[in-house]
Amino acid sequence: PVIYAITPTYARLVQKAELVRISQTFLHVKNFHWIVVEDSPVKTQLVSELLAQSGLRFTHLHTETPKEHKLKESDPNWLKPRGVEQRNLALQWLRENRELSEEGVVYFADDDNTYSLRLFDEIRSTKRVSVWPVGLVGGLRFERPLVEKGRVVGFYTAWKPNRPFPMDMAGFAIALQLLLANREAQFDMLAERGYLESSLLQSLVSIEELEPRADNCTKVLVWHTRSEKPKMKQEELLQKQGLGSDPSIEV
Ligand code: UGA
Ligand code: MN
Repeated sequence: PVIYAITPTYARLVQKAELVRISQTFLHVKNFHWIVVEDSPVKTQLVSELLAQSGLRFTHLHTETPKEHKLKESDPNWLKPRGVEQRNLALQWLRENRELSEEGVVYFADDDNTYSLRLFDEIRSTKRVSVWPVGLVGGLRFERPLVEKGRVVGFYTAWKPNRPFPMDMAGFAIALQLLLANREAQFDMLAERGYLESSLLQSLVSIEELEPRADNCTKVLVWHTRSEKPKMKQEELLQKQGLGSDPSIEV
């Protein structure tokens, strides 16, 4: 099966560094197709060139998050869900461009996480929805599904444990066929904080059907890392003196 990784991404100082890092991880994954969806009114040059030079099989899409849903610079980052429209557009693309007969697995790979190559070996055998632990998330060292006799019976999580699927986006993969057979299933833009993952999974599986991976969910193979926002104090001071850095040099 092909692994389709869906990555929403948006312009900011660390964007290129994030995309270079994860693309170079993905280069090591066989039978891989990267769907990159820019949160932007246009396909940007930075992302277009990065993809063209990446050596990966890819699809480049874009859709801008509507203003009323978008975070402002001053908003705390958890105020609104992020990357929702972008992931839904990628699902639409798969439904329009792939056949039920194709074997594939779909994974939502945010641009700032850290992925072990071993994760992709675990993902590839997904029949419906597979699950595994995610490190450094939810205010814990890790969150994970709890497994008894090979079945998921609950979740180790501290934050809003009563969510239908209390899991981070990085902690599950979905069979392409399941998404093609359920054409209405998508993320809910209006989902309450923390309920985004549940808004999709609820219409696709029940907890009993989840397929545990990573040694019955005892190994952490993906980390919910987040890059620090770089400080530009000196850059701004220099700019005021007309001595800002060369804007033709891409960062
Ligand atoms: C957590 C989850 O890990 C995300 O998968 C989930 O989308 C998010 O919460 C949420 O509740 O919406 P977090 O690290 O806080 O993630 O979110 P980000 O990594 O900042 O954003 C998730 C993805 O959306 C990233 O790939 C990011 O590049 C993209 N994004 C973010 C946009 O496309 N547009 C934005 O305005 C912000
Ligand atoms: Mn993130």
